[in-house]
Amino acid sequence: MKKKVDNLIEIAKKRAGVAAVDEFVRDGMILGIGSGSTVVYAVNRLVERTKNEGLKVICIPTSFQSTQLIVNGGLTLGDLSRYPKIDVDIDGADEVDENLNLIKGGGGCLLQEKIIASNSEKLVIVADYRKDSKILGEKWKKGIPIEIVSMAYVALMKKMAKMGGSPVLRLAEKKVGPLITDNGNFILDVDFGEISDPKMLNQKIKMFPGVVETGLFIEMTEKVYFGQKDGSLISRKR
Ligand code: 5RP
Repeated sequence: MKKKVDNLIEIAKKRAGVAAVDEFVRDGMILGIGSGSTVVYAVNRLVERTKNEGLKVICIPTSFQSTQLIVNGGLTLGDLSRYPKIDVDIDGADEVDENLNLIKGGGGCLLQEKIIASNSEKLVIVADYRKDSKILGEKWKKGIPIEIVSMAYVALMKKMAKMGGSPVLRLAEKKVGPLITDNGNFILDVDFGEISDPKMLNQKIKMFPGVVETGLFIEMTEKVYFGQKDGSLISRKR
């Protein structure tokens, strides 16, 4: 049974990844390449199109993972210093609300993801049906990922608790101790329950010295593709 569900989720992810690349990517574009398991399907489609159509694009990664995907797929790797204006950024999300605000950072790459998204003309999100919510925090129960400078972690955990959140320091797997991001920072996952005003919450959290970035992506998304259980596709546009 679990295997069958996992399979349906993978089909849904693929449906979203392929649709985003087919609808948004054109020859000569500068692309942001997000992180996570759904983006893998978008990159695979990109590789397929470069082979079949001779499509030429420059790909700017958002993580160590996406750098590997770009390089291993034989795509052209670029960086933000050389290409500061990105046409389309294709990325995943942990949760999407009805206004297309996002929680991101489940994979720990929120800082680079937000920098790339904020320098892209269009942010296109690829996701499966489990990510589709009315309100942020309705389905994603692991909390908002917040990248922080390590020396501030105790103080920031106290501040998050004072704001009504339940903070947890994200720990590494296969290593004792905290997870270290690609940028050498820590991550706090802070559960604020259902978030009625994500814009306000984002602003408040960002005011604390030591907070590098939050996983709340507010009013940034152009379009979201949700692959469905039955293999169909739903999309929502800003
Ligand atoms: C990583 C992210 C990912 O895009 C997000 O966690 C979704 O990943 P997946 O497609 O594996 O569900 O924000 O920081």
